[in-house]
Amino acid sequence: MTLILGLESSCDETAAALVTSDRAILAHRVAGQEAEHRPYGGVVPEIAARAHVDRLAPLVEQVLADAGVALSDVDAIAATAGPGLIGGVMVGLVTGKALAHAAGKPLVAVNHLEGHALSPRLVEPDLRFPYLLLLVSGGHCQLLLVEGVGAYRRLATTIDDAAGEAFDKTAKLLGLGYPGGPAVEHIAAEGDPRAVALPRPLVGSAEPHFSFAGLKSAVARAAASGAHATPDLAASFQAAVVDCLVDRSRIALAACPQATAFVVAGGVAANGAIRTALTALAGEFGKPFVAPPLWLCTDNGAMIAWAGAERFAAGFTDPLDTAARPRWPLDPAAEAVRGAGVKA
Ligand code: KG4
Ligand code: ZN
Repeated sequence: MTLILGLESSCDETAAALVTSDRAILAHRVAGQEAEHRPYGGVVPEIAARAHVDRLAPLVEQVLADAGVALSDVDAIAATAGPGLIGGVMVGLVTGKALAHAAGKPLVAVNHLEGHALSPRLVEPDLRFPYLLLLVSGGHCQLLLVEGVGAYRRLATTIDDAAGEAFDKTAKLLGLGYPGGPAVEHIAAEGDPRAVALPRPLVGSAEPHFSFAGLKSAVARAAASGAHATPDLAASFQAAVVDCLVDRSRIALAACPQATAFVVAGGVAANGAIRTALTALAGEFGKPFVAPPLWLCTDNGAMIAWAGAERFAAGFTDPLDTAARPRWPLDPAAEAVRGAGVKA
């Protein structure tokens, strides 16, 4: 059994956690930055980086105290090394390096996306490789065949916006503020998902990828028309996203009969309507559906500690001169797709 300290700071959550290789979460804490970024309607990278500097070291002390362990009891230190806002990633990675150096422990540089991708295995011991993963977060929207630790095959990605980005932009233009996803979901519960006719980009296309930019523009036009109530707009938008995710995932499920399960992870996986629809889709294919609990979907330190534990067990550690990476695809061999703002 090994004990791993995990650090996360790639976006606007500062997080630390202590997790064991046998899936015990000894402590985990997340410090959000909503108040800092709310006046700007989105995450301001420089403000985020400074907030991580202020918060990360105290958080590490707190999780050690919560768990009643000393730094010397830890077997390895895992820190997000990318992809993400580079200032924030550097804060977490440098902190991880300093702790590793001071305590004489190995460093595990974790790809934030691998943190999301392996997080379901922290709470689902029976989840075996390979599994089909829908990774939906603020920066990414991908379908991946997870073949093992460090082994990913990307089947689809977005050719423009990520799913979470679409939620955040929709929230902003509906005046629902930041953070957008939970606000849209909340108000959508009072709306009629059939009230506003919105496009489902790429639905029905043989191309496996995602697109959300046209949907966001359609929401903007519908909102500007003044003809619709905000809950109806939110509900109709959410229904369109659900249809896009289900249609694209259906192609991937059909292409991956070897998948042991259909899994969703990332912040958008916290959305109830999306979870319900994906549960039904997995049922169509006779696959188990796995979604981490809500707190493990949005950014946290436990998923980084767990990915660190899996990598450490597989023999991967990293040198102290490992560089922070703003972009870091999980599948470096994946072919480029059309679209200007393609997210790896
Ligand atoms: O994984 P995550 O915490 O950070 C990134 O790695 O990007 O994902 C954040 C994204 C944001 O776009 C947020 O609006 C979205 O997840 N999100 C949601 C919900 N909760 C968070 N989207 C829809 N419904 C939710 N309940
Ligand atoms: Zn994330």
